[in-house]
Parts: sequence; C-alpha cells; structure tokens
Amino acid sequence: MTTPVLEARDLARTYGRGATRFDALKGVSLQVHQGESLAIVGKSGSGKSTLMHLLALLDKPSAGQVLLDGADAATLSPRQVNRTRNSTFGFVFQQFFLTPKTSVLDNVVLPLKIAGVSGAERKRRGMAALDSLGLADKAKNDANDLSGGQKQRVVIARALVGEPSVIFADEPTGNLDTNTGQVVEDMLFGLQRERGITLVVVTHDEELAGRCDRSVNVRDGLIVGGSDGMPTAGAAVDQQATHGRHSA
Ligand SMILES: Nc1ncnc2c1ncn2[C@@H]1O[C@H](COP(=O)(O)OP(=O)(O)OP(=O)(O)O)[C@@H](O)[C@H]1O
Ligand SMILES: [Mg+2]
Repeated sequence: MTTPVLEARDLARTYGRGATRFDALKGVSLQVHQGESLAIVGKSGSGKSTLMHLLALLDKPSAGQVLLDGADAATLSPRQVNRTRNSTFGFVFQQFFLTPKTSVLDNVVLPLKIAGVSGAERKRRGMAALDSLGLADKAKNDANDLSGGQKQRVVIARALVGEPSVIFADEPTGNLDTNTGQVVEDMLFGLQRERGITLVVVTHDEELAGRCDRSVNVRDGLIVGGSDGMPTAGAAVDQQATHGRHSA
C-alpha cells in the first residue's frame, strides 16, 4: 500500500474551556489516498468541518496527528505549512468569500499572488482557469456582480489556479440550484479523473456522497463504520460506509 497523501491519527479537537468546553472530535483515524474522492458525511454539528479543517492544516488538533505524505504536520515549520496550503491544497469553502470591489480575475489569482508568481503568469493561469469554468467573459466584472452559481465556480477556479493535488470542498453544492450544483460536481469529479486530483468533500447531499469512491460517516465527533476498516465501538449497522462508483 502506498503512503496516504493524508492521514488522521486519533485526532481530537476541543473548543472552548470550562462550561463552554466542547469535544467536537473525539479520536478520528482516517487515510486519504492519492487520486481518490472521499466524502465526509454526517449530521449538522457532528464534526465534519472540524475534521476537514484539521486535514487541510487550517486548524491544529487538541490531540492526535495529521500526516502529510507520511510526515507529521506538527513537525512542519509555519512556512512549510503555508506553502502546502497555498500550493498543494485547493479550497472550495462557502465561507471563503470572494473579495468584493475586486475583479473576478484578481480574486482567482490571489493564491498565485501570495505565492509570488509574476503578473503576466498570473493572468495567463487565471484566465485559463476561468476559461475552463466557462467564465472567461466575466474576468473583468466585479466579483459581487455574479450569480451564486457563478461565484461558486469562481471559488473553484481560485482553488484550481495553483494546480493543487488535493481539493477540500465543504458543501460545494450547498447553496446551489440542482443544475448549477450538477455542473460544479461534474467539474470536481472531472478534475479528479483527468488530473488525478484527490478530493475530500464534506456534504449532506447523498447523491454527491454516492459519486465519491468512498465515504465516512461522522457522528458526535467520531467516525462510525468507515470503510477504513476501523469502525468505532458502537457503530450502527445503518452507518456502513458506502462505495460509490470509481471514476478512474
Ligand atoms: N469555534 C468553535 N467554538 C466552539 N464550538 C465550536 C466551534 N466550531 C465548531 N464548534 C462546535 O463543534 C461541533 C462540530 O462543528 P462542525 O462545524 O465541525 O460541524 P459540522 O459537522 O461541519 O456541521 P454542519 O453540517 O452544520 O456544517 C458543533 O457542535 C459546533 O457547535
Ligand atoms: Mg460544516
């Protein structure tokens, strides 16, 4: 077995302290392999986003480890963590708003700007990403002027522009109508298929989860009945991991 791109080992995350202390994750272990699509499903408040933020190195665990290509993320310098987030990962999060009063293109190339890519190269790559999402004609528009679905596609363009090897998506179709949601889904799975990108998707949408190669169920801060072969004690029979079709 190859080394997983990402691995969670007994991850715990506690928010707050005293009376407001809350154990959002209580010991989660999980492997994500290169090129696969993994759905993280579960009820609201179960800990899905918390888990994804830890895997994406946007947050630090209270206990346990995140391994990146086999290396403990806690041993990486802040600079290495930033570089990984900026160049290896792409994010499709609804709370990662676009910057208003800024053009669509400038929003898309922001990660490249942070990475120090030259202006001409930023423009070339930004336009290519927008073009692949059918939004080249909107490049000069203010990001605020777009429809919800178009904004979501801009967020995807921004996630792609750095040519990430892992895309994290948190409810990528949550606020979209069925048709636009379908377009966004097709795009994400197309990237997985064509560029071998690894997809980690948090979703309530069973249809979307079913399209992923694998899914894990989070319940009350624990993975219950995951297909990683380590079901937690108390895992219910109705919480079996599902196997979607493989897109390779
Ligand atoms: N910063 C925080 N401080 C305190 N509690 C928090 C914080 N962030 C999350 N929580 C709590 O941790 C639990 C897990 O939150 P999380 O955002 O991971 O849930 P989720 O599964 O993504 O839910 P949803 O489907 O509604 O997005 C929730 O009970 C939430 O209230
Ligand atoms: Mg969430």
